[in-house]
Amino acid sequence: MAKTIKIAPSILAADMARLGQQVAEAEAAGADYIHLDIMDGHFVPNLTVGPGVVRALRRVTRLPLDVHLMVESPERFLADFQAAGADHLTVHVETCPHLHRTVQQIKELGCRAGVTLNPATSAGSLEEILPYVDLVLVMTVNPGFGGQEFISGTLPKIERVRAMLDGIGSQADLEVDGGIDPNTAPLVIGAGADVLVAGTAIFRAAEGIGRAIGRIRAAH
Ligand code: DX5
Ligand code: ZN
Repeated sequence: MAKTIKIAPSILAADMARLGQQVAEAEAAGADYIHLDIMDGHFVPNLTVGPGVVRALRRVTRLPLDVHLMVESPERFLADFQAAGADHLTVHVETCPHLHRTVQQIKELGCRAGVTLNPATSAGSLEEILPYVDLVLVMTVNPGFGGQEFISGTLPKIERVRAMLDGIGSQADLEVDGGIDPNTAPLVIGAGADVLVAGTAIFRAAEGIGRAIGRIRAAH
């Protein structure tokens, strides 16, 4: 049976002056989640948006809001993002010394709990937390900026995480983020990913948001 692939457009690459319209366009084109990159200028060398933008988008889309927290001590902000309308809260294992507790906090808030790994962080660091998570995000670039080149050395890690999830019978999403376009999509899908985040390849595509989503979806 062919696996269903979900597409999560990342608003990092959107036209912020027309954000509501661009998200509505992505939803109309069949996007599955809307991915929001939250950056604090400490864990990653860039700043983006906070709960206010989540709240604003909650009013314009019915899609799940997939919030990727690239911030130090993310547990400080979980309740604020949940109250703003986040559906998925994903934290970096590199920022969470008490990862089990943080995952429990996310679930107690009623959100789906995601954990994510930087390119140089081993899949093995997920082993003990895997039974508790609803989503694993494998970074396929170093977090902080859109428009970077896909790191193909992450493919064996995607395969390994897929095997770990299947090994415990987990239905968690296996999401990938960074440098995903119609050329790299077949590679990550082949390795076992089932949710593809894409920013530049969707919101900066000359052909427009709708066609760009269609091309990524058709790429495998
Ligand atoms: C990078 C972010 C990504 C980013 C991906 O730190 O986590 O979500 O928006 O952008 P593209 O698709 O342009 O690589
Ligand atoms: Zn992201």
